[in-house]
Amino acid sequence: MIKVKVPATTANMGPGFDSIGMALTMYNIVYAEKIEKGLEIIIQDGNPHIPTDENNLIYKTICYFYDNIGKPVPGIRLIQQDAIPHTRGLGSSAACIVAGLHIANAMSQSFFSKEELVQMAAQIEGHPDNTTPALLGGMTIGAMNESDMKYVKVRVPDTLHFAVMIPDFTLSTELARNALPKEVSLQDAVFNASRAALLAASMMNGDMDNLEIATQDRLHQPYRSKLIPNMDKILDKAKEYGAKGTFLSGAGPTLLAVIKNVVDFRREMVAYLDTLDQKWQVQMLQADNEGAKVWINEELRY
Ligand code: HSE
Repeated sequence: MIKVKVPATTANMGPGFDSIGMALTMYNIVYAEKIEKGLEIIIQDGNPHIPTDENNLIYKTICYFYDNIGKPVPGIRLIQQDAIPHTRGLGSSAACIVAGLHIANAMSQSFFSKEELVQMAAQIEGHPDNTTPALLGGMTIGAMNESDMKYVKVRVPDTLHFAVMIPDFTLSTELARNALPKEVSLQDAVFNASRAALLAASMMNGDMDNLEIATQDRLHQPYRSKLIPNMDKILDKAKEYGAKGTFLSGAGPTLLAVIKNVVDFRREMVAYLDTLDQKWQVQMLQADNEGAKVWINEELRY
């Protein structure tokens, strides 16, 4: 039996569009084993939206992997325990891709290294800001180029806490990407380049006082806020309640705040969110610095 545990991820972190991402302490767990033939998928959280046929993203990734190594896909049973909510900007698709790659790698005894899986996952997803932190943990800064993806992983201090505000409505990544302009001004490009660089350097140095400025964005959040009721008001409230930095998680609609005082922030934010028309839940998470883990017959492999 193969067991894979994959963290949720928050992409962009404000200015690092399609480049920066961070793993969070929220996990999907998948069990996989070979069966005589065919495909069996059991969804243990009862989510009716997860496909249990060939359209299942974990299974599709396994098929992609076997196709690439030129071997036939064996009969497979998958058991999914998903804690990462779907279509909320917390990397649920990336978690499926990462789980599928790890399962196929172990099942086919291919022994590709983690580094090779990082590159494969970035190619499948098309941008590295969810799959790279999901595989490696921490905060990662990645840049795709023609032949591969260059990246740096930064460990995130345990002293940082993240309030994750998750609404009860979804937003498809496709819709959220279609809302973006094809071209931006030089001013906006400079605004984002300076903040993305400041964010990366500040996280490496531990200069957390920079986060308010370093998490600002002009490339995607202003356009996506129109698709997310009360986004700007919630982010403003988060600052009022003492957040050091705030941003949209991935393509949204989940929002994140970097916070100091977990108890006070949660109390005030929950009270504010209760006044809104949409339902929001608040989860207090930290960064996961380890990334996805794999057990084979209960023995931790990586
Ligand atoms: N960087 C991506 C986006 C993350 O913001 O669209 C979601 O896949």
